[in-house]
Amino acid sequence: MRVFVADHPLITHKLTVLRDTKTSQPTFRLLIEELMTLLAYEATREVRVEPHAIETPVAPTTGVKLSEPLPLIVPILRAGLGMLEGMVKLVPTAEVGFLGMARDEETLQPTTYAERLPESLAGRQCFVLDPMLATGGSLAAAIKFLFDRGADDVTAICVLGTPEGVEAIEQAAGDREVTLVLGALDDGLNEQAYIVPGLGDAGDRLYGTA
Ligand code: PRP
Ligand code: URA
Repeated sequence: MRVFVADHPLITHKLTVLRDTKTSQPTFRLLIEELMTLLAYEATREVRVEPHAIETPVAPTTGVKLSEPLPLIVPILRAGLGMLEGMVKLVPTAEVGFLGMARDEETLQPTTYAERLPESLAGRQCFVLDPMLATGGSLAAAIKFLFDRGADDVTAICVLGTPEGVEAIEQAAGDREVTLVLGALDDGLNEQAYIVPGLGDAGDRLYGTA
């Protein structure tokens, strides 16, 4: 598994505002989207392209276009939905599938409550979006789900991660092609398995407590 942790002052600046308790919900939403766009640049470094001939007003030339099947973006509901627009901005022709997962706050086990994905993911490059990699249970289950459907390789993009979460994804990935892109690697987890220093409950800060 490849792990990339962002190292850019703009990302650190935006993360600082994001973490701050005083940051309002509208600003939090905007920052999650902006951070996603910045992380997407790194996460798509290996996106598959093929040669594509065009004519400029001056001369013919050959560039590239995204290869078929097009990449599949999979936000994990709820909190991953906040990252979707930031990713789609950079890869507007990608397809989008959805996985709904919730972590039981007592057992910390994830349950999958919704799924809208193509029947077969054979040959697909999948990009999973979830802002929080805490114990790693939710993302590990999502990655397993995609490989079980035939996905070729999976890139997971998280705003914050922990060493425990990275370890869990490493175990889940085994020898399959997984890339993990993190905005920051935090210190660890508290007694409630919340990321420390973290930013609190990402879903609640994006969408309230409904
Ligand atoms: C949060 C987060 C991840 C998960 C991380 O979602 O968005 O999906 O917890 O925790 P883990 O790494 O320990 O599994 P949550 O289950 O709170 O659902 P939500 O997005 O609907 O708020
Ligand atoms: N889910 C969140 O939203 N935040 C955490 O810190 C851990 C799990």
